[in-house]
Amino acid sequence: MPQKQDWKPRSDESLNHARATYDRMRTKCPVAYSDFLKWSIFRHADVNTILHDPKTFSNRVSRHLSVPNGMDPPQHGVYRRLINPYFSEQAVQQFAPTCQDIARRYANLIIQGKEIDFMTEFAWPVAVAMQCAFLGWSEQHIDTLSAWVKRNQKATLAQDRAELADCAAEFEVIVSGVIERHQNKDDVTARLLQERVNGEPLTRSQLISILRNWAVGEIGTMAAAMGILIQFLTENPDIQQQLRDDHAKIPEAIEEILRLHGPLVSNRRKTTCPVNIAGRIIPADAIVSINWISANRDEAVFADAHKFRWNRDHSQNLMYGAGIHACPGAGLARMELKAVLTAILSGSKTLEAGGKPTPAHYPGSGYATVPIISQ
Ligand code: HEM
Repeated sequence: MPQKQDWKPRSDESLNHARATYDRMRTKCPVAYSDFLKWSIFRHADVNTILHDPKTFSNRVSRHLSVPNGMDPPQHGVYRRLINPYFSEQAVQQFAPTCQDIARRYANLIIQGKEIDFMTEFAWPVAVAMQCAFLGWSEQHIDTLSAWVKRNQKATLAQDRAELADCAAEFEVIVSGVIERHQNKDDVTARLLQERVNGEPLTRSQLISILRNWAVGEIGTMAAAMGILIQFLTENPDIQQQLRDDHAKIPEAIEEILRLHGPLVSNRRKTTCPVNIAGRIIPADAIVSINWISANRDEAVFADAHKFRWNRDHSQNLMYGAGIHACPGAGLARMELKAVLTAILSGSKTLEAGGKPTPAHYPGSGYATVPIISQ
């Protein structure tokens, strides 16, 4: 018998009012089936259980290689240990001045006293420029990679397998060129080319998977985060002023604003046996979609969950995940976002909304456009 559809993730309402939809689902139907996303999990407690039980909830979801996100223990640990040093505190600190330069350069371009779309003029190019700089790639990749992410997101929403395969092939061509040029350099990409696992170099598909994840995997999330932060500050001039007066408050504000409005919608797991979550029986081999945005707005964990609050305890904030797959790039992302807000607030006297923002659609979060005027 076909499974009953508990909700419609691709309805106009779900796409245009994603957070409100997830808030409703968390209350009415916290474990919800849809043909499009399979089993969506909306409550913080249930998400947390899944994150800490990799035996029952496997990351081997896709037939495509994904290093290390698509792996389970013990293989996952081997590759996770390999990538962790690239994101160490020291590596992030060394990279910070480059990010501050990029953020200042683009901030100067948008602080002009006339309306611009923050997503096109700042968020996308800066997210790509920072990832290119991290990997040691030249900025000539900015337009190609931004276009690639948008094309891939569109194909994901449409579940267009042929287009997704084309996207994967296009990315392989981009990376092949990069690999050629980085053989004898001294940067993150060149270091990756030298890595060994059990004495063997990484295979070509492992390299492509890692570079794809680092180059484009999180660009959409980073751009969405920047748009959400700026949109929030134009809507909340009092908080904007507090940050202008005291830049030391910027990191805390970033955590809280992105808890309220997560830049990443979901990640998946596959059940290895039948499980009971919040009274719903999910069969073995079923896809489970962890809804980060909803978990972080759960009233059972965060008092006044839908309000911005200073001095909130963020130990339960799941923006960067938890458990063995928790984001290794969290320190890097925090540093980059801090560089962005610092550059924009230091370089401008005012930052105001230029018009109504338009929402981004799943699998993206945040906004497609954020019109602003800054001087
Ligand atoms: C605001 C920005 C970011 C957010 C919100 C974010 C969020 C997350 C989350 C929630 C996970 C856990 C996924 C899961 O449990 O299935 C994750 C994993 C991961 N993230 Fe991030 N991330 C961000 C930026 C980055 C950046 C900049 C990088 C690297 C360039 C990165 C690299 C990774 C990798 C490699 C994993 C997989 C880890 C594993 O499976 O062990 N992330 N991220």
